[in-house]
Amino acid sequence: MKFFIDTANLEQIKEAQDMGILDGVTTNPSLMAKEGITGTNNILKHYVDICNIVEGDVSAEVISTDFEGMVREGEALAELHDQIVIKLPMIKDGVKACKYFSDRGIKTNVTLVFSPGQALLAAKAGATYVSPFIGRLDDISTDGLNLIAEIRHIYDNYTFETEILAASVRHTMHVIDCAKLGADVMTGPLSSITGLLKHPLTDAGLAKFLADYNKGN
Ligand code: E4P
Repeated sequence: MKFFIDTANLEQIKEAQDMGILDGVTTNPSLMAKEGITGTNNILKHYVDICNIVEGDVSAEVISTDFEGMVREGEALAELHDQIVIKLPMIKDGVKACKYFSDRGIKTNVTLVFSPGQALLAAKAGATYVSPFIGRLDDISTDGLNLIAEIRHIYDNYTFETEILAASVRHTMHVIDCAKLGADVMTGPLSSITGLLKHPLTDAGLAKFLADYNKGN
């Protein structure tokens, strides 16, 4: 399972990268705004800064909602760095743009996916990644993990190569459950990754080992 971090915060990206377990980064306009990155030039520069920290794929989202605009924006984003993946919304023109980019060998991430039918369309359009938002489904009392299971089942029926990128991951149990269900990738906050480290028996066991070692010194 690949681990992506869902942030535009360079310090957190560095921290995850330094752990040696990071496979990529996802961003969105809200995450950019949260870091105070505004204006097209600053946003484009920030994508390059992220690519220079992480070794894997970096999703950069288009703002346009029409096919021509998405193609124009996506081509400019793809020019920035070879790690850039064009993030496209799950709307009709987004699907069309996904097909356009996949035909040209440019990686895509179809975002804002909330149903198996949308995931099927993304795969048909040749998406590199499909991003079902599990946390936002949970927020409205709908089982986000069930969507991962449904998409896994459908993709396996037809050997679609599109990778299931479980998005809107909020905590460590989301990560573990997505791994059990066979999601190819998860993207979440740094806390959802570092939280996996924690177990009280590890802390207690280490404290005891160190205390016993020190008895002899
Ligand atoms: C995915 O690419 C999105 O950036 C993200 O996972 C959304 O998460 P949220 O629902 O916590 O905002």
